Amino acid sequence: MSAAQNQFDAHWMPFTANRDFKKKPRVIESASGHHYTTDDGRQLYDFFSGLWTSGAGHCHPKIVEAVQKQVAKLDYAITFQVGNSQSAELARRVVDLAPSGFTQCFFTNSGSESVDSALKIALGYHRARGEGHRTRFIGRERGYHGVNFGGMSVGGMVPNRKVFSANLMPGVDHMRATMDLTHTAFSRGQPEWGAHLAEDLERLCALHDGSNIAAVIVEPVAGSAGILPPPVGYLERLREICDKHGILLIFDEVITAFGRLGKSFAAEYFNVKPDIITTAKGLTNGVIPMGAVLVTERIYDAFMQGPDNMIELFHGYTYSGHPVAAAAGIASMDVYEQEGIFEQASELSGPFADLLHSFDDHPLVKDVRNCGLMGAIDLESRDGAPGARGTEMHKRCFWEADLMIRTGADTIAFSPFLNSNLKDWEQSFDKIRHLIDTIE
Ligand SMILES: Cc1ncc(COP(=O)(O)O)c(C=O)c1O
Repeated sequence: MSAAQNQFDAHWMPFTANRDFKKKPRVIESASGHHYTTDDGRQLYDFFSGLWTSGAGHCHPKIVEAVQKQVAKLDYAITFQVGNSQSAELARRVVDLAPSGFTQCFFTNSGSESVDSALKIALGYHRARGEGHRTRFIGRERGYHGVNFGGMSVGGMVPNRKVFSANLMPGVDHMRATMDLTHTAFSRGQPEWGAHLAEDLERLCALHDGSNIAAVIVEPVAGSAGILPPPVGYLERLREICDKHGILLIFDEVITAFGRLGKSFAAEYFNVKPDIITTAKGLTNGVIPMGAVLVTERIYDAFMQGPDNMIELFHGYTYSGHPVAAAAGIASMDVYEQEGIFEQASELSGPFADLLHSFDDHPLVKDVRNCGLMGAIDLESRDGAPGARGTEMHKRCFWEADLMIRTGADTIAFSPFLNSNLKDWEQSFDKIRHLIDTIE
């Protein structure tokens, strides 16, 4: 047994094929800028910028310094009935960045917690307004909203739900996913086909009666399912239907918030305003776990009734508004602003699309999709072994090409840094082409 194998013996790894991984662990020791360093001393180009997290690059000196200073000054402070100035400042900064009308920021520690918090806020909002009968949620097939029971239930990733099928949250229904390769294959950006799929929501309103539905939750661009940009007009139509039936629209922007599409939020990019926005990941550039739920004034105000000394929302986490995480968040906002990170992402999205779509005519490629700095290449599956090529691509990228990518089934997904260098992309895509050319 190698030293590295021993190292992971006690570690049940998340979303990992544990037995296979432990035979030959892939280990990262350090990171700087756009690269990881492995335990065998190789520099890997990180084509996934963490896990959609680290848009401004790893170990950004300004964020590192802010965290170091803060941890030595206030390591933790109780956040129930007592505040700290770091979380207050971060809430202000995030709200200032958000689309107009969003006035409140509720802190969590992850995307999953942001989603479950948002669902609870939606229920509480309706109840506070005397519409406690609005208890149903509508999600979407192939949606990913984290792994807690609420998010898993409104989500539509079959493997994530399968084992827990009998225990999912009741009162949830799903719209269809927006991808159908017979109509959408090789679309550049938003597909022209598919806006009519928003009518699924009207159908579900007819079935359940719209007055029983609390909220609809979607990722503006589905990420974990393999990058599914919304069809032209689709999000606009969801907004219209929600308005017609008094339903809240939640955008799960855990991936898309903080510049992934070249704007602060996907809501701004698509010019469609939801009622609640969930975030995490880029909130601290991935440096310390933290999430946030943004709500409009109308939603917050609905809770602000009864005696002043009464807690309005019986919800929160020990680490909601953790001062060190908040310091990382403030420093991230500074970096985003001072270095024009979102603008860089916007300028890079054209060249990224060009490079990605240069795979359109490869015989082993089934589809290529992109939106902002999110991209995917679908490989044809090997006969009788779906997912095998994807797994092999991931391993070969790591061991042979010094590249970190992410694969799900036979889809290769890309989440490049928001301040990437074009040269790194060109070199990395050359390596990927070589691997695809030579894969069995
Ligand atoms: C859209 C979306 N929502 C929620 C989550 C869950 O976030 P976390 O893993 O931080 O709980 C993710 C994670 O990738 C996500 O992409």
